[in-house]
Amino acid sequence: MKILVTGGCGFIGTNFIRMMLAKHPDWKIVNLDKLTYAGNRLNLMDLEENEPRYEFVQGDICDRELVTSLMEDGHLDAVVNFAAESHVDRSINDPTPFVTTNIQGAQNLMECARQTGISRFVHVSTDEVYGTLGPDGKFTESTPLAPNSPYSASKASADMMARAYFETYGMPMVVTRCSNNYGPYQFPEKLIPLIYLNAKADKALPVYGDGMNVRDWIWVEDHCLGVELSLLKGRDGKAYNFGGDAEETNIDVVRTILAVLGKPESLITYVKDRPGHDRRYAMDYSLAAEELGFAPTLGFREGLEKTIAWYEANTEWLETVQSGAYRNFMDEWYKERS
Ligand code: NAD
Ligand code: TYD
Repeated sequence: MKILVTGGCGFIGTNFIRMMLAKHPDWKIVNLDKLTYAGNRLNLMDLEENEPRYEFVQGDICDRELVTSLMEDGHLDAVVNFAAESHVDRSINDPTPFVTTNIQGAQNLMECARQTGISRFVHVSTDEVYGTLGPDGKFTESTPLAPNSPYSASKASADMMARAYFETYGMPMVVTRCSNNYGPYQFPEKLIPLIYLNAKADKALPVYGDGMNVRDWIWVEDHCLGVELSLLKGRDGKAYNFGGDAEETNIDVVRTILAVLGKPESLITYVKDRPGHDRRYAMDYSLAAEELGFAPTLGFREGLEKTIAWYEANTEWLETVQSGAYRNFMDEWYKERS
């Protein structure tokens, strides 16, 4: 099988490509990535240098000509779209790149796939399209889409477009909706690596609002497993939820990281809340369990310890991705909030 993976130099795409090439000796992967601030070509440099089944192409999913040329390859069996602007706080600051990549870019991929007759398309989406939950219940695939941030609105728009491409053109399309991922290669603007880094440096740990917002954390390889199962077994026109059975308040996540690192809780600093902050996410993934045989494999504490061990062993990676533009953006953001 030959797959075009987009956004493969980001957090989840990197894990997916590594996992799939290791698991399937007969698979080939072409990785199309624009290399935004969140994309790091070095993540997969060992494969670029030593693995003939892996090819890297730098480019934009919005580029009709480039995407068409990659899809015109008669041996291409499927497309898996991870490429996105992925950070809610950045989307609040400036929604425009989210509309460009997450909506127009995704539609461009779908249109090129339609024109070139691609026989499988997996669009990677998020639980955030469903909006927010109260204290009870879980999102199912029939929960109405009710996005609250520019990020989640852009992802929900692409989900709607995927649905339209299936309904209108009969395009072989599967959408995956997953909860919050954590694990190796996550960019340190997201909660877990950011808290880890600040705690290591004995810096203040910014907790938004009252710290009681709940996320359902999933080990990144379990999400990759869900995407793989969707690619191989998903029913066309369906969306599948994936979750980690690990609902945690943000403050508990922060406290657990501090406990693993042996750092004091006095570092915790409550800051102004994120506007439109979703209170709680929780996933009912019973459809994926029944139809695809999906189940998460790793508990939160074990996964968090593995994640921290990976960051401890990869300080050079952290230094590389923390430079320049990212630092300036986050400094501004926290100045505004504290
Ligand atoms: P990420 O920000 O780490 O990586 C995104 C990647 O996409 C980067 O390599 C970036 O260079 C690339 N990219 C951005 N714009 C592009 C463009 N126009 N053309 C080509 N490449 C482009 O994101 P992630 O956390 O790995 O998320 C991957 C996907 O999974 C996204 O679609 C996201 O919405 C979805 N998702 C993420 C989570 C999570 O917890 N991180 C949860 C559910 C779903
Ligand atoms: P994040 O990792 O940005 O993922 P998402 O917004 O997509 O869920 O944030 C996870 C939760 O942690 C979210 O409720 C916001 C909160 N948060 C903080 O309290 N402090 C921080 O510095 C960050 C980045 C997030």
